[in-house]
Formats: sequence, structure tokens, C-alpha cells
Amino acid sequence: MAIKFGRPIESRTRFTPVEAAQRLDLTVRMRRNRRSEWARRMVREHVLTTDDLIWPLFVMDGDNARAPVASMPGVERLSVDQAVREAERAAKLSIPCVALFPYTDPKLRDEAGSEALNPDNLVCRAIGAIKKEVPNVGILCDVALDPFTSHGHDGLLRDGVILNDETVAVLVRQALVQAEAGCDIIAPSDMMDGRVGAIRKALDSANFTDVSIMSYAAKYASAFYGPFRDAVGSSKTLTGDKRTYQMDPGNSDEALREVALDIEEGADMIMVKPGLPYLDIVQRVKEAFGMPTFAYQVSGEYAMIMAAAQNGWLDGERAMLESLIAFKRAGADGVLTYFAPRVAEKLKAG
Ligand code: PBG
Repeated sequence: MAIKFGRPIESRTRFTPVEAAQRLDLTVRMRRNRRSEWARRMVREHVLTTDDLIWPLFVMDGDNARAPVASMPGVERLSVDQAVREAERAAKLSIPCVALFPYTDPKLRDEAGSEALNPDNLVCRAIGAIKKEVPNVGILCDVALDPFTSHGHDGLLRDGVILNDETVAVLVRQALVQAEAGCDIIAPSDMMDGRVGAIRKALDSANFTDVSIMSYAAKYASAFYGPFRDAVGSSKTLTGDKRTYQMDPGNSDEALREVALDIEEGADMIMVKPGLPYLDIVQRVKEAFGMPTFAYQVSGEYAMIMAAAQNGWLDGERAMLESLIAFKRAGADGVLTYFAPRVAEKLKAG
């Protein structure tokens, strides 16, 4: 008989089930609730439904045209008519809302991002077309200048510095143009100070009291936006980085201050971005404010899962579902995700 720490270890390794149970003396067995699919379903704390999804769409000029985004397998830029098709698909799949992002013709980009204020720009045309054909799908639009500026920044640039207050004045006009076109949710993603309050005030004065604001309240300066910048065509032109306006990834308390300010300024819903690397922020924000809280599973997160799946390194479908339930577990009320149509199809199929 082996002796270890002075206590005899039994050399016998095979026990009858009853003997084994007696030796362990377990009254609590966590595995009982996991023993079958029906039991797992019955005790599940969080579920993902199609109501949790916001589907980002990239729009471009053209007719009946689609162009793949190389760094986002399965994602395409869509001409307006095709964006309408996808909005119809969203309605069929019970996805409540789509988010529109334009690929602006490089010829229309300038220092000031003035195409953002054109009431007939791509985003506005897409809003109009979708509202006409699929009125029951919500439309969310980014407010920021990066798809329109020649330098790829979200704001106005002077001598290498992003100007806060001058930018806010332009963003207010951009928000009004989008509201006029029929946008339901204005989503300022620029991280300028004071923009939510300024936009709320302007919307109200123009009688757009029913237009909502979902603010990108805690938006981090992240490497995970890379593929998105390919999709909207700003990655090649972006000079420098966005660290003077987007948040430092090392900070967490600061996110709560950002969110508190946006709520005070009139945000109806708030967003944390990116998603999975910032789940702690989602949880803190939801706990602290109890606001409708959304997470953006950004382009780089999507690309990582897709790339690994395409290499056969992980099961893409399971990774997709697991990544999305994580947001629900952290307390998010919904997720902006490029997986939206695929996951909705999967959820519908059961
Ligand atoms: C624009 C904007 C960005 C994203 C959403 N709105 C990029 C950025 O801030 O550089 C990123 C979304 C994604 O990566 O999927 N301000």
C-alpha cells in the first residue's frame, strides 16, 4: 500500500457505483442539470433571440451590384437596391434593425467630409429606399465623418489636431440630414465631447423628437476596426490614429464617466465597442446605469472567427453562437454583428 503524507492510499481503483458514491458522499451534483439537452435548455439563464440583433450593412453606388469585402468573408458592399433586398431579409428573419455605413466614392471625399451633409448622399438614399419598401425594419445610422473625409478621421482636422467643437457643429447637421431622410436611430460614433446633447437639442428643435439616439458612449481606440475601414474605404487614407478621441484600452472607470455624460445629454441607448474584448465594460455599464445597452461585435472580431473557421481551426458556427451568448450573459440588450443574418437563420431553423 502506497504511503503519501502519512495517509494510506488505497491501491484498489475499481469500485461499484454505490461504493464510489459512498466514498465521494456528494449531495450536490452540478452535472445533474447538464445531463440532457432538455435539462440544459430548462435551466439556461440566457438565450439569444433574433430580437437581440442589429445588422450592419455597407452601401455603395451602383445598380444591382455587390462587392465582397476581402477582410470580412461573407460580407459584401451593396448597391442601394441590394441593401433593400437585405432589409427585406432582415424583416423576414425578425431582425429588428439594420445599421447603414456608406462606401463613399473617393472623389466625393474632402478635408471637411462635406458629402456627409448632402441630403442625397448614399446613406440618405438607402434610408429612403429601405423605409419605402420595408417600413417595419428600424434604421440606425452612424454619425461621424470618417467615410466622407479625405484623411479618414471622424472629425475636422487642423494642423494634425481634431477640432472638437467645430466637429460637433458639423455632426449636428449630419444628424439632421439623416433624420430628415427617415433614419430612426442616430448613432454618434465620433467620440467628440458634447455631441449627444447638441444633436438631441437640434433634433428636438427641428421636431424630430421621436428620433432616438444610441450613442457609441464607450468606444475604444481599437485595432479591431481594421476590416471595417477596408469596407468603407478609409484604411488607406487614414493618417495617424484615433487615440486623441477614442478611449484608451487600459481604462474602465472612464467608460462609466463617458456613459454617464451621454445619458445626461439625452442618449436613449448606449453602446460599448468593440465587443468581446470589452465584456467587462458591458457588464459594468449595464449594472451601473440599467440603460438599454448594446455591444458592437466589430469587424475584426468577425474576421478572426471567420478566418479561423475557414482554416478549419475552429467550428465557425459554434464560435459565432458562443460569442453572441457571451454578450447576453454580460448584460447586453443587443448586439451589432455581421453574423446577424446567419445567426437569425440558425435561430429560426431551431
Ligand atoms: C466610424 C466607425 C468605425 C466603426 C463603426 N463606426 C470605425 C472607426 O471608428 O474607426 C467600426 C465598426 C467595425 O469595426 O465593425 N467612426
